[in-house]
Amino acid sequence: MKLWLFFTLVLLWLEVQNGVCQQVKHKKEAGENRIRPGRKRAKVRYPKVKEKEAGSKGQSILTQVLDKGRFLRLGESLSLNPGKTLELRCKGTKIGWAYPSYLDTFNDNRLSITQHERYSQLILTSPSAADTGEYSCWVLLCDGVECEKDGDTTSATYIYFTDKDELFVPSAIHFEIIYLRPDKPATIPCRVTNPKIKVSLHREVPAEEIAVDGTQISYNPTKGFIIQNPRPEHKGAYYCKANSTTKTTPQISTKYQLLYVEVPSGPPFATIEASSNTVRGGDIFNVTCTVLGEPEMNVSFSWRYPGLGQRPVSIHDSWRLINRGVGHTTRISQSVMIVDDVETIDYGKYICTTKNKNGETLVATSVKSRA
Ligand SMILES: *[C@@H]1O[C@H](CO)[C@@H](O)[C@H](O)[C@H]1NC(C)=O
Ligand SMILES: *[C@@H]1O[C@H](CO)[C@@H](O)[C@H](O)[C@H]1NC(C)=O
Ligand SMILES: *[C@@H]1O[C@H](CO)[C@@H](O)[C@H](O)[C@H]1NC(C)=O
Repeated sequence: MKLWLFFTLVLLWLEVQNGVCQQVKHKKEAGENRIRPGRKRAKVRYPKVKEKEAGSKGQSILTQVLDKGRFLRLGESLSLNPGKTLELRCKGTKIGWAYPSYLDTFNDNRLSITQHERYSQLILTSPSAADTGEYSCWVLLCDGVECEKDGDTTSATYIYFTDKDELFVPSAIHFEIIYLRPDKPATIPCRVTNPKIKVSLHREVPAEEIAVDGTQISYNPTKGFIIQNPRPEHKGAYYCKANSTTKTTPQISTKYQLLYVEVPSGPPFATIEASSNTVRGGDIFNVTCTVLGEPEMNVSFSWRYPGLGQRPVSIHDSWRLINRGVGHTTRISQSVMIVDDVETIDYGKYICTTKNKNGETLVATSVKSRA
């Protein structure tokens, strides 16, 4: 393995270790990882019953309720002032919704969704700049309790809550890691609260403004800066700068650390660790083999160890996804072997073989007798 690649992976590993702790803490605080009602996906397929009540002519089923019972059919985007309650309606007897994930993460009670007989109603009280994002709805086709999204009816609008003091959409993360992969565009998510704001991209070392040519590097106010073909030389620390039309001093965004990762195209990146490398007879210890990789990449584990075939051990394989900020997820796959009531036969080398579709990686650790 190339040295720089190794170090990048070690960095990623340290970062994920950190992330795991943060994630666990966070979950307890905010009840993250709940199933989002609006994002639920049903697996069951039904014959499509084409008796759509709305949206059949490709017309948006999403409207905003204005004062005095007036309605506005929503298009691609909308700019609103923060503070004033937002009411959206979507026509249909069963409707699914999606909205900025921030509202779910913080289990926000400002948001309420009510299904009425002919339409569903989404109300967001005291919206702020942080609520800027895409709001969408679709008709659900249901058979008993199982429902399926009718994708043809999906209507979406991007709502900017334009705040003159918050030019960037505030983020809960103050320092964000962005992974650059050679095979897909990377996004530096400095979104703005008003599409008219001028934004520039800056590197910290060497301090320079990055040229935005609109193709290789472009800016989209609903996404951020997009690097079309990430390369190793793009890595480093960056921030975005926004020019206010009303203020003289520009605003600076969250900091972004861009890391270049080549994990996807290779065999697994694996590490192994024993709870203790020196044990005594009668002890209990475990050996953990860990692989970090792309969310969709499944990994299989196999073990070779001193007592193989003669000693019962318990092996438990698992995997989970960890979220690393907007749009990036890492899959952490683990195999844990537990050796109980240590005997002489258990001293020696524990070898974990990890396999993915690109190849295999062997990692080993030794467990010795404690004098
Ligand atoms: C922001 O304003 C400064 C000073 O007026 C100017 O030099 C800079 O080019 C502006 N940046 C953008 C992205 O418009
Ligand atoms: C492995 O051993 C360590 C140290 O004794 C313990 O904290 C940990 O819970 C063990 N893990 C499993 C999966 O048994
Ligand atoms: C990954 O999963 C697929 C489908 O479940 C399976 O066919 C394949 O053998 C798995 N690959 C590994 C390396 O476990």
